[in-house]
Amino acid sequence: MSIEIDIQTGDSSWPRAQPLVMASFPPDAAMILPTGPVQWANPDLRVFIEDDEEVVCHVGIYRRIGTWKGRKIRLGGVGGVATHADHRRKGYAGLALTAAIQTLRDERSIDFAVLVCRPYNEAFYEKRGWHAFGGEMYVEQKSGDKSARVLFDVMKPYVFDMRYGPRDGVLDLCGLPW
Ligand SMILES: CC(C)(COP(=O)(O)OP(=O)(O)OC[C@H]1O[C@@H](n2cnc3c(N)ncnc32)[C@H](O)[C@@H]1OP(=O)(O)O)[C@@H](O)C(=O)NCCC(=O)NCCS
Repeated sequence: MSIEIDIQTGDSSWPRAQPLVMASFPPDAAMILPTGPVQWANPDLRVFIEDDEEVVCHVGIYRRIGTWKGRKIRLGGVGGVATHADHRRKGYAGLALTAAIQTLRDERSIDFAVLVCRPYNEAFYEKRGWHAFGGEMYVEQKSGDKSARVLFDVMKPYVFDMRYGPRDGVLDLCGLPW
């Protein structure tokens, strides 16, 4: 058995991630915002874990300039956390999350990291040092050919503390990638 972890550019590595990501995230009818079904951004980078040359785990990494409590912040985002159903409970997602946080820390100084998750995954992230964010989070969604700023209230945001440890206030992710 040989395990490899590597980080690749988001767009170009989509074909490598696609089978695992598509199998892990079936369309969810509850994920509706005023603009329609949630439109997910594509990751800037992806963490892959391979076991015997098979992709068994994936984590997407996002970079955004946003605001929190009115101040400009540099955010890291995490999403698309998925382990192949035959390879769960071996520590792969924990390992890939650690690699994602380390990558964000190494790249540039960031203020904190954010993810959103369904209730049944909250304990998983809490055990790995993420904290529930109790404030309001706004995201950018397309509405026709325009961009709309929308309150994201269909899943709970979680934050990973770095320079700041936000727990409340207004968090706005509607900025550009850094
Ligand atoms: C959520 C998900 C990513 C977890 O992946 P995973 O690789 O099984 O995660 P880990 O192995 O790191 O941790 C899972 C559990 O296995 C346990 N575990 C880790 N290594 C283990 C081992 N060698 N033996 C037994 N259990 C182990 C962990 O302790 C953890 O339990 P805990 O949260 O109670 O501590 C996976 O279930 C999945 O892909 N789900 C579908 C997609 C999804 O919901 N993604 C999350 C979006 S927010």
